[in-house]
Amino acid sequence: MKVLFNNIGKSTNYLKNIELLHSNYNFFRKKHFSNLCISQLQKTLPDSKLFLTHSATGGLEIIAELIKIEKGDEVIMPSFTFVSTANAFVTKGAIPVFVDIEKERLNIDLNLIENLITPKTKAIVAVHYAGHPCDLNKIKALCKKHHLYLIEDAAMAYGNKYEGKQLGSIGDFGVISFDITKQISAVQGGLLIINNPDFIRRAGYLYHIGTNREDFIDGSVPYYEWVDVGSKYQMNELSAAVLYDQLLRSEEILAHRNILSKLYHYYLKPLELQGKIQLMSDDLIETNYHEFYILLKNQVERDQLSTFLLAQGVETMFHYIPLHNSSKGSDFGLKDLPNTIAISESLLRLPMHTELGENHVQYIVEKIITFFEKE
Ligand SMILES: Cc1ncc(COP(=O)(O)O)c(C=O)c1O
Repeated sequence: MKVLFNNIGKSTNYLKNIELLHSNYNFFRKKHFSNLCISQLQKTLPDSKLFLTHSATGGLEIIAELIKIEKGDEVIMPSFTFVSTANAFVTKGAIPVFVDIEKERLNIDLNLIENLITPKTKAIVAVHYAGHPCDLNKIKALCKKHHLYLIEDAAMAYGNKYEGKQLGSIGDFGVISFDITKQISAVQGGLLIINNPDFIRRAGYLYHIGTNREDFIDGSVPYYEWVDVGSKYQMNELSAAVLYDQLLRSEEILAHRNILSKLYHYYLKPLELQGKIQLMSDDLIETNYHEFYILLKNQVERDQLSTFLLAQGVETMFHYIPLHNSSKGSDFGLKDLPNTIAISESLLRLPMHTELGENHVQYIVEKIITFFEKE
């Protein structure tokens, strides 16, 4: 059996959407599918101003400009994250202050943050690893106390909630990724979420290549012109056509992925009870959509299992090389972040997509059991 790690799946609606776009140029010009996506997304994010972007990376870059990041500003974030979380701020001269993660959710360790806040700290980035929420009430209180911006990197968190609200809609700003590696995908795309009303207007300028096109669209100016800095952050219509199809099927897609998570969890439980692997806790599994990972004893065992599974036709992936000791990250000083290192070395992500069924999960688990039997 051949099992891909990821697969966007089949869609006949996407092809119909593309035909519609090509049937009349005005569908392109008027951003038909981008507008439909925004209306659909607004249902889960009713109180936020939303911008569809070419990537979550682009959304983070807009946020860095909105909060006027300058040389020497400090931004607190986990080291266990994707480069974009740091790069958006580092590009503007900020110093990323890398923090260790806790071992339950693999999110930034809140007990370590307050000691790291200095007069130069401008923001905290809460990355919701695997879509599992950080304790946002606690981070919000810290941000309020120290006058910091709260940025939610909800790249992996479409469909995940905190106190009933979609992640990304609670901090001052949020981003969600619709990359091909995510549960809901535009092939490449993202969502910028502005929750702090003070920034809505300027976000529109930056998003529309530094023009007041947003004011023109809502009829408040007769034409639009250059008013600010900015770039071409919009999602293209072909991606929006993919995304709209995915959004309409999102309940079904998330439910499928959640069933796979529960099946993996159920079939792998005996191995956890034997002390061979560590699984996500039962409560996290209830709303787990993005990825299914297991933790091995160490890097050697993780890599051996990954190689063994590949030989059986099963693709697996590790995740994030910690930023703090990557070649660029080490520019910002040496740090001892033991949980980040241990998790990065021992985490293995198993295949997760809608083309998989219970038979695939059983096959993969069977092979994992065989791996431990022959050890
Ligand atoms: C935590 C995190 N932030 C940001 C990004 C960037 O997302 P995108 O690929 O949509 O730019 C990713 C991508 O995987 C991510 O994992």
